[in-house]
Amino acid sequence: MTDAIKILVTGANGQLGKSFKKTEEGLMPHSCKYIDMADLNLTRTGDVRHYFDHHQFDFVINCAAYTRVDDAEHDQAETFAVNAEVPALLGELSRKRFFKLIHISTDYVFSGNSSIPYKETSKAFPLSIYGKSKHEGEMALRNNENALVIRSAWLYSEFGSNFLTTMLTLGREKKEVSVVCDQIGSPTYATDLAKAIFNIIKTSVQNKFIPGIFHYTNEGICSWFDFAWEIINMSGLPCKVIPIATSQYLLPARRPAYSVLDKSRIKKVYGLEIPYWKESLRCVLNVLATT
Ligand SMILES: NC(=O)c1ccc[n+]([C@@H]2O[C@H](COP(=O)([O-])OP(=O)(O)OC[C@H]3O[C@@H](n4cnc5c(N)ncnc54)[C@H](OP(=O)(O)O)[C@@H]3O)[C@@H](O)[C@H]2O)c1
Repeated sequence: MTDAIKILVTGANGQLGKSFKKTEEGLMPHSCKYIDMADLNLTRTGDVRHYFDHHQFDFVINCAAYTRVDDAEHDQAETFAVNAEVPALLGELSRKRFFKLIHISTDYVFSGNSSIPYKETSKAFPLSIYGKSKHEGEMALRNNENALVIRSAWLYSEFGSNFLTTMLTLGREKKEVSVVCDQIGSPTYATDLAKAIFNIIKTSVQNKFIPGIFHYTNEGICSWFDFAWEIINMSGLPCKVIPIATSQYLLPARRPAYSVLDKSRIKKVYGLEIPYWKESLRCVLNVLATT
């Protein structure tokens, strides 16, 4: 590898892609290229092969995904094309073109029937098309010595539309908002995940790249109701947050009732320190208050 590490980030206009862009400065000597749909539609296999024939990278971080979980139920072909076939192709190219692939997956690969945090080795049993497609993407990278898969969960950021920005909008516009209290997980600030991945790259370059599946979320667990309550209260909005059951808020795609991820492996192997979710929430609210 040369001194300046060459990194490609796909899905650059998504919330995680944008979080990489704002985080990259000062981390290490590197050049980062960001691409999204308009630059290269990753489901066009011929175009992707051609692109990698002409561009060389040390690391490819795949943030591109079909993430509209409910639409995915009726849009299976496109969902599998982006979430399963794209990582398979990138995995194949990682071997041919000698780059390390860091691919992002999800807690939705689990059924949610557990009551203890899921390990990387826990049995996957996705409940939705989105979860099934992401699981197939993981499977395509199994046994690939150049691929590292990070399962994350409940991603939010200051960018675009996500649970945080939706709650802030509702909190300003409504007197009360109802949020499910029987789905338990761990919120993850996209900036924390981006920093963690840059640190993994740094460790891989300085020490060793360890492939396989890893879990990363912020520390701590809560329900969506708890998360909404903290957002509204930390922001000082005069909106009441009402706990409801999932059965009172039915959506096309089923979600796991419990999807806490055990992060021991990523902490041990890559030496990461992970912020507690309320600290990260306070950070992003400060960012929003000053922009
Ligand atoms: N959001 C969550 O709560 C969550 C939780 C766990 C894991 N994850 C995973 O984390 C990763 C990042 O998620 P995110 O929230 O940042 O997603 P996001 O905001 O929806 O961004 C995904 C990006 O991928 C692009 N994309 C979609 N299809 C593409 C294609 N065929 N070719 C090129 N680009 C394409 C999208 O472009 P367009 O907008 O033009 O379609 C979008 O910019 C994904 O792998 C996701 O599965 C997310």
